[in-house]
Amino acid sequence: MNVFITGANRGLGLGFVQHYLAKGDQVWACYRSECEALVKLDVEVLHLLQWDVSTDDKPQGELPNAIDLLINNAGIYGSTKAGQSLDEITPDNMLEVFNVNCVGPLRVVKYLKERVVAAQGIIANLSSKMGSSTDNSSGGTYAYRASKAALVIISKSMAVDLQPDGVRVITLHPGWVQTDMTHHSGLIDVEQSVAGMTQVIEHVNDYDAGQFVAFDGAVVPY
Ligand SMILES: NC(=O)c1ccc[n+]([C@@H]2O[C@H](COP(=O)([O-])OP(=O)(O)OC[C@H]3O[C@@H](n4cnc5c(N)ncnc54)[C@H](OP(=O)(O)O)[C@@H]3O)[C@@H](O)[C@H]2O)c1
Repeated sequence: MNVFITGANRGLGLGFVQHYLAKGDQVWACYRSECEALVKLDVEVLHLLQWDVSTDDKPQGELPNAIDLLINNAGIYGSTKAGQSLDEITPDNMLEVFNVNCVGPLRVVKYLKERVVAAQGIIANLSSKMGSSTDNSSGGTYAYRASKAALVIISKSMAVDLQPDGVRVITLHPGWVQTDMTHHSGLIDVEQSVAGMTQVIEHVNDYDAGQFVAFDGAVVPY
């Protein structure tokens, strides 16, 4: 299987890389600027590409002709929780986070669509429960919540638009995971989250097109 992962140099992205390498898959791992952890893996089936998904620049590196699984993992939280309060949030903060978390996956899919269609592959977009309106009882976090909510809708449109081409699209919530993004304060570790999400991906046909699903297989209401 050819697996393509964005934001793969640390956190959940690196966890996905390790999971699919262990399964014997060919992995195309994208990083924005720092690739030391990927280089250290030192395996021939790993292909490195430099790609900042916040820009319209093309990925630097060789692409696979067909992509069986595209994981849109790259994302940012934005400024601190306090910095994303109603009083502190700024239009620039909103646009920066929206550009990476929502426009980024759209750019990636627009650029790689034909290759995913060639494999009748799967696209997995990493959103967050923070983007669920139903789950939002604590307010705040404007930039991150809005960007991840928008990604749910974008992912659903992709699912509908690409279904006739045999491409399945799913939206994932990784859980609250111990990574740099959460300052390692999450409830589960990267291995647990990736083990769950990869199971969901494997059973993508059990879910509706574009459905929003957590790492434990539960459908997330939004
Ligand atoms: N951790 C959680 O509890 C949690 C919960 C819900 C959803 N998520 C989502 O899961 C995904 C992975 O999160 P994580 O916890 O692994 O975060 P992380 O540890 O902060 O890693 C984020 C990754 O995204 C990359 N990235 C950021 N901006 C980028 C850009 N413009 N272009 C390309 N790559 C970029 C980072 O690269 P650099 O090293 O270059 O910065 C890094 O590889 C994110 O989409 C996040 O929103 C995480």
